[in-house]
Amino acid sequence: MNSGKAAPPVSRICLSTALGGAGRGIFPYTLLPSYRRLLKAVRETGATVFTKSATRHPRRGNFVPANPFTWRYIRRLPGLGMLNAYGLTNAGVEKAAAEIRRSWELGFRVIPNFYPEFAKGLEVAIAETLEAAAIYREALGPHFQALELNYSCPNAAEAIRENVTQALACTRALRQQDPELQLIAKVSICHPFEFCQELERLGVAAIHAVNTIPYDLLYPLGPPSPLAKVGGGGVSGGPAFELAFAYNRELRPKLRGFLIMGCGVAGREQVERYFDIGADAVSLCTLALRRPREAAWIVRHFSGAPGTGHTGGGLRRG
Ligand SMILES: Cc1cc2nc3c(=O)[nH]c(=O)nc-3n(C[C@H](O)[C@H](O)[C@H](O)COP(=O)(O)O)c2cc1C
Repeated sequence: MNSGKAAPPVSRICLSTALGGAGRGIFPYTLLPSYRRLLKAVRETGATVFTKSATRHPRRGNFVPANPFTWRYIRRLPGLGMLNAYGLTNAGVEKAAAEIRRSWELGFRVIPNFYPEFAKGLEVAIAETLEAAAIYREALGPHFQALELNYSCPNAAEAIRENVTQALACTRALRQQDPELQLIAKVSICHPFEFCQELERLGVAAIHAVNTIPYDLLYPLGPPSPLAKVGGGGVSGGPAFELAFAYNRELRPKLRGFLIMGCGVAGREQVERYFDIGADAVSLCTLALRRPREAAWIVRHFSGAPGTGHTGGGLRRG
């Protein structure tokens, strides 16, 4: 796909969320040798890392790493899957920006992911997003070329669908105030394709499709989600692949620009399948946590290292 615009600074394989809010690894995964090897592969190949979402101010979600009683909000599912209702626990943009700066110093190519809190009202959410962009720029300087906007986080399908108008208004405001900044919009399987097309018309540099799939959408006839009390949670990894793939296959011809496909990659086969239907880049999250060794292989194999026959990081298909 070629829209004639400059390609966003995104490698063919990118890591999404799985390296944490700073983008250089999550404790206690960093104790695992295979995860550390993945971090090394990411650094050495220059693979793009999208952080876990930050909000403008510190926020306490369902999952709090220091509190074992909240660990039940993140579970494993069979078939290399995960179910999570993490809920955006984070220390706010100032801390995130300082940590991301440190990650760049250590050789990680990190793009911050920001969650505009539309629940606070549209004007506040837009003002906070603009502030966040200014804080990232101050901290990262020339490394701040792109910002990923998480328009897809709540686990309930209804909440996601309702944010369409607000997300478009937020994108428009950012494009007007900060036209140099490349925006990457992360969307949900619950969003209509027209939403992605409109984001493209507003000038986003890339669409990232899709975030976790709401549990009830994936298993409409099954027993309720074990996390029903907190909205049901979002499914990622293997069990989510076929639905995410079908969405991306239908979305691809409707867009002209850069499309990062993700959700459900459980091994190299799914990466190939996404490239086969026209992905400009493919993102990994759950795989990096459940099978870091396979994730590292994928990062190296598709990064354009000599002899692999693949084009390298930051480039798009011709
Ligand atoms: C525990 C967990 C936490 C996540 N947190 C975020 C987040 O803060 N922001 C975001 O945009 N995506 C978040 N995601 C979604 C992932 O980045 C990814 O889009 C999703 O898991 C689908 O990809 P996968 O099947 O490769 O895991 C999270 C996923 C998991 C499993």
